[in-house]
Amino acid sequence: MSLLIRGASQIVTPLGTSACRKEALGQLTVLESAVVRCEDGRIVWVGDSTEHDRRFPKADQVLDAQGGCVLPGFVDPHTHPVWAGSREDEFNRRLRGESYMDIARAGGGINATVSATRTASSEALTQKTLNRLDTFLTHGTTTIEAKSGYGLDLPTERKMLEVIRDADAEHCVDLIPTCLAAHEVPLEYRDRPEEFVELLIQEIHPQVAELDLAVAIDAFCEEGVFSLAQTRRILADAASYGWRIHLHADELTPLGGTEVAVEMNALSADHLIHVTDAGIGALAESDTVAILLPGTSFFLRTHYAPARKMIDAGCAIALATDFNPGSSPTESMPTILALACLNLGLTVEEALTAATLNAAAALDRADRLGSIESGKAADLLVLDAPTYHHLVYHHGVNPIRHVVKGGKVVVRDGRIEK
Ligand code: NIG
Ligand code: FE
Repeated sequence: MSLLIRGASQIVTPLGTSACRKEALGQLTVLESAVVRCEDGRIVWVGDSTEHDRRFPKADQVLDAQGGCVLPGFVDPHTHPVWAGSREDEFNRRLRGESYMDIARAGGGINATVSATRTASSEALTQKTLNRLDTFLTHGTTTIEAKSGYGLDLPTERKMLEVIRDADAEHCVDLIPTCLAAHEVPLEYRDRPEEFVELLIQEIHPQVAELDLAVAIDAFCEEGVFSLAQTRRILADAASYGWRIHLHADELTPLGGTEVAVEMNALSADHLIHVTDAGIGALAESDTVAILLPGTSFFLRTHYAPARKMIDAGCAIALATDFNPGSSPTESMPTILALACLNLGLTVEEALTAATLNAAAALDRADRLGSIESGKAADLLVLDAPTYHHLVYHHGVNPIRHVVKGGKVVVRDGRIEK
């Protein structure tokens, strides 16, 4: 099957197969009078329209961009998309002055979602996840990293990872599964956290590995959750199964999780609101991508990660939603890009690279995803606007007109093609 996208005002993309740093982060290629041709799910031509017509036969299908800007599909490298219940009550409590951690200590927070998720059926969780994937897709996201972590026991962590596997099979958005059984210490282990770490290592990890339900591990390394020593044990065990590592690091306090992530050769260290200069130095010297989550700072009304300092130091940065019911209930990457520009101090060009090519690098997929180049997956967006700046500038609305996933038009005029 071949698809030709023509009629674009501009085709805009970062280039390459690895994360961009420093000045390169802001360097986008902008092509005018150009077309993109996709064959069997991959991009086979990006360039001049007349030249294309000379070289290739007529395409099976044509998508007319009608003067819209064409971009790579967003890759969202940090999401928690499977859960039951909701936490709007906590949102209002926080507005009245309680902190995220106060609420968590009182049995709310992650543990509130854990009880709702433990009792939900797989069918109900799958349906909720599929509905959320529809929202990701209509807002331009074509691949997500998907974490478990609202089970904190073997049956529910397994159930969540199976939901992620089934949703990936059913939905056109690709889900890359991460086991986050170390998301919080469950209430029944509150007085004996070391025993919960044993449970992770003796029972949960071996079962997840045997069923091949995850390609990566994550943990919430935070004061009052998992210490540096516990995090090291959990990650080292996971590495023995060949899983890659992501880490919730230095989110609420400067504990030093970033350095642990780098030391363990993690794919990413995430949040980094309180990253220290030593953490920034370690990241800059490493291949670990710094995934910044400005939606969480916005929603928790806290500080923002020192993004400019990190870029200047040479860290590879990516952007993600952190989509979850407690600290960032949005599937919208356009919203995250706007927050990245307005509150992290990125330019529109930097934000776009961070949400596409660098986000793919954070998932070890930059060889296949994240830019509009021959050989890469044909995951593309057409904006309802003539230039890429509108993506951020015209904020608070959904700027995505069409979405192409694996060479197929899956969203047309804002609606999912069923
Ligand atoms: O990334 N920090 C830990 N995990 C999530 C919050 C999850 C929740 O509140 O349900 C985060 O912010
Ligand atoms: Fe998270």
